[in-house]
Amino acid sequence: MSEAAFATRRATVVADVSPLRIVFGFDDAALTRGEQRPVAWSENEAVNGHMLLAGKSGSGKTFTLRRIVRQITRAQRGVRVHLMDVHGDLDLDEASEVVFSESTSYGINPLKISADPHYGGVRKRVQAFIEMLNDASKSPMGDRQVSSLRNMLYDLYASHGFRVEDPSTWQEQREQAPPEFGFRVYLDIPFDAKDAAKDAARAAGITLQFDKDARCWWTDRHEGALERYPVKTFGKVYPTLADAAAYVRTRLRSLTTGGGTKSTRLLEEHNRKVVAWQAKARKMGAAAAIGEDIEGIQAEVQSGLGPVIESFTDYVTSIASGRELDALVRYDTLDTIRSLLNRLETMVASGIYRSAQPPFDAAAPVWRYNLTALSSAEQKMFVWTRLTEIFENAREQGIVKGAAQLRDVIVVDEAHNFFADKDTNILDRLAKEARKFGIALICASQSPTHFSEDFLANCGGAKILLGLDAMYFDSTVRKMRIDPKLLAAVVPGKVAAIQTATRGESDPQFRLARVSG
Ligand SMILES: Nc1ncnc2c1ncn2[C@@H]1O[C@H](COP(=O)(O)OP(=O)(O)O)[C@@H](O)[C@H]1O
Ligand SMILES: [Mg+2]
Repeated sequence: MSEAAFATRRATVVADVSPLRIVFGFDDAALTRGEQRPVAWSENEAVNGHMLLAGKSGSGKTFTLRRIVRQITRAQRGVRVHLMDVHGDLDLDEASEVVFSESTSYGINPLKISADPHYGGVRKRVQAFIEMLNDASKSPMGDRQVSSLRNMLYDLYASHGFRVEDPSTWQEQREQAPPEFGFRVYLDIPFDAKDAAKDAARAAGITLQFDKDARCWWTDRHEGALERYPVKTFGKVYPTLADAAAYVRTRLRSLTTGGGTKSTRLLEEHNRKVVAWQAKARKMGAAAAIGEDIEGIQAEVQSGLGPVIESFTDYVTSIASGRELDALVRYDTLDTIRSLLNRLETMVASGIYRSAQPPFDAAAPVWRYNLTALSSAEQKMFVWTRLTEIFENAREQGIVKGAAQLRDVIVVDEAHNFFADKDTNILDRLAKEARKFGIALICASQSPTHFSEDFLANCGGAKILLGLDAMYFDSTVRKMRIDPKLLAAVVPGKVAAIQTATRGESDPQFRLARVSG
């Protein structure tokens, strides 16, 4: 089935079939009376589709996730399930799996913007990207780096034809390569990778030539070692992280070579001297205020003024083009630019930010993102970027009809890694805002205390406790307001404590449910 057919089924089927149901197990108390009463989530009764699974390792989180996903796909409702698989154990028959690693030729683009005039655009994307970068990093950027990066990205977008203040420019316009070159596949090979690409093509006996008119490399066989280079897109396309790194590199080069170098260095030196002199002047002011003898400091301040004026004179006489200041005003110091470049290049090297689309099977109901090869910071950036993209796509498709009708189900295992203590965090935003666009968020972790307040408060689908480590017992009782006797009766693989909320119900309670089998 094609992607189009998949979407059509979503649109047509929903109206006339029975509501989607997901059975987690059977009410334990009812079973002892000989009754089989399912504990289930139901599309037309639930508050939303968000679910939480908590349990220690081996308690059945993966097992339960599989069981939930299988019921969604069996119903054939055109729901797309996205599995963020950090352990590589979320295997399912119906899944199309894509591995993300350093050496894959496709990826995701965190600089892709939504063209929606209200929710999308360059400024929001740049802001979200910077926050994401800092949230994922052990050494977040300071204010100066942030403002430098922001300006750099605005300029990069503008150079690609996307302007901050003009929503009519926010749409991508992809064009195909000139048709007269039918058999040629044009490749996007960065300038500094061209020798490696040529060697690889020669070793494999594949044609790789430069087309002077199209100003682009082409091959007749896009395979083997050349697969790491994506097909070139012509027209107006969103910049990638590699573009950002190349852009910063070029800026840096133009500042440190040619006319820029001497005056830039002298200006930086002058700035340092001014800062030092000002510190002394402040010290003098403070001393005067408490009536101290200030003559000594005064002399120091006086004598410091000479070098400051000299350094400024040096800078002024070294000016070559008159525009040296512009770049530094916009991008801060050379050190700042260098450290930004370093950050961007490290990210590019991770290999997950390529512009070619990941080769998921468009007709498969489950997309499994295998993230086992990535570091934890990379996993964060990946998941946040992809979830943002799914949210933006769903929003563009509009509001769903049913209160808990599903369009995309997102499963995040080890979810505690992906919360950040901020209300802009995408998991919290999904929990709060995404239900009406048909998105359900299913998070699994070792303890309910690992989830954010926003997620806990908005998790109206199901809360499933599968057997916690003793260290989380008391905090869970408090946080989930569950009767400790119920929690103590949980047996991994056999009995779970489950809370499902139905609309109109004000205080949903946990129940024990048989989940074995
Ligand atoms: N409800 C269940 N019924 C039967 N077997 C289960 C159930 N839950 C878990 N298991 C089994 O227990 C083992 C550990 O479960 P798993 O889902 O991998 O745990 P977790 O993901 O929490 O570490 C697996 O072999 C799984 O098949
Ligand atoms: Mg697991």
